[in-house]
Order: sequence, then C-alpha cells, then structure tokens
Amino acid sequence: MSETKAFLAAFLRRPTTMGAVAPSSARLGAVLAAVVPAEGSPVVVELGPGTGAVTGVIADRLPAGSRHLAVELDPDMVVYLRRTRPDLEVVHGNARDLGRLLEEHGVDRVDAVVCGLPWALFDDATQAEILGEISRVIGTTGAFTTFAYLHGMALGAARRFRQTLRGAFDEVLVSATVWRNVPPAFVYVCRRPREAPTAG
Ligand SMILES: C[S@@+](CC[C@H](N)C(=O)[O-])C[C@H]1O[C@@H](n2cnc3c(N)ncnc32)[C@H](O)[C@@H]1O
Repeated sequence: MSETKAFLAAFLRRPTTMGAVAPSSARLGAVLAAVVPAEGSPVVVELGPGTGAVTGVIADRLPAGSRHLAVELDPDMVVYLRRTRPDLEVVHGNARDLGRLLEEHGVDRVDAVVCGLPWALFDDATQAEILGEISRVIGTTGAFTTFAYLHGMALGAARRFRQTLRGAFDEVLVSATVWRNVPPAFVYVCRRPREAPTAG
C-alpha cells in the first residue's frame, strides 16, 4: 500500500487520533527537521510519526551513531512503520508517557523532539501534560518543533495553543508558511522550557 493510501486508511479508521487526511510534505518535514543536529551522535524523538513522512527527512539528516525513536499511539501505524522503516526505533505508546517510555528505552538525554501530534484534537489538560513531558526531556539545551495548519489560525483554539506554547517556552519562533503542503502549514520552533526541567 502506498504511504498516502496507508495514511488515509488510518484516518478513516481513527479520525480522532490521526487529525489529518494526508501525510506532511517533504518541504514541511524539512522545516520540522531543521533542529535535528546533523553532526555528533544526537538522540532525536519523533512524536506521532504516522506513516513516516517526516521520519524519512529526519533520518536523512542523522549521522551514523545517532538514535531516532518514534512514539506512535496507533497500533496499525506501528506495524506499518516497523515494516517500512526497520532502522527506526518504533515505540508503541502515548506521548503523555514520554518520560517513562524513554526511560524504558535507556534514553537519558534528548537533543530534539520533532512532533506531528494533532494538537487541535487534544483538550487543554492533555496539551499541558504532553508539553510538560516534552519540556522535561529536552531540558535547557534541546529543541522542539511542531506544526499547525494555516487555516486553523482562524479558530480560537489554535490561537490559544500558540499562547500555551509561549507560556511553556522562553523561545517560540514561527516559521514562514509552507505553501507546498496540503493544507498549507507553519512550524513552531521552541526552546528553553520556562520551568527549567531536568531530563528523565
Ligand atoms: C497528523 S498525523 C501526523 C503524521 C506525520 N507526522 C506527518 O506529519 O505526516 C498525527 C499522528 O499522531 C499520532 N498520535 C495521535 N495522538 C498521539 C499520542 N497521544 N501519542 C502518540 N501518537 C499520537 C496519530 O496516530 C498519527 O499517526
């Protein structure tokens, strides 16, 4: 099955966890993955990899000796990823449990979290819980990227999420619009959690 078909099939099965009808474009993936260190032996965590559209862009940047873990909730996506990306460390679990999942996989430092989670489908408490987990794992030195659809900014919830990010991180940069994505989207680049959490 092609990636687009696999994604659509997953959306039709579980629209409330997928949150999109098509995978991200390579152009959007490149903006999301720009925080991934291309040298050294970085540890990168991807949240909500889906069919792996962004996974491939991250993998292309990563030097030998790095770790790339992908946390995915949907069991069918987990099977798909394990089959199509044998080098990826696919973790079947919920981003809400990020700290525990990483501990179970022997990860004690994270350089970057690249996130494809459908924030618009989460309530405020879930958003806060997941952002807290991300903050703790990136600590004061890591970076976190995530994306939002341009049309969503007409809605109060998307504007509130931007405020939530600004409350959670000292630095929140907003990328230019990536028009070559369906639908057009932009990326948030976040650093330095405000509550100076420690990794693990
Ligand atoms: C919009 S898709 C993004 C897929 C891919 N990153 C992309 O950009 O094409 C959202 C993905 O997040 C996963 N997901 C949703 N809630 C999750 C959670 N709480 N923990 C981990 N993954 C989750 C969904 O199953 C889905 O694969």
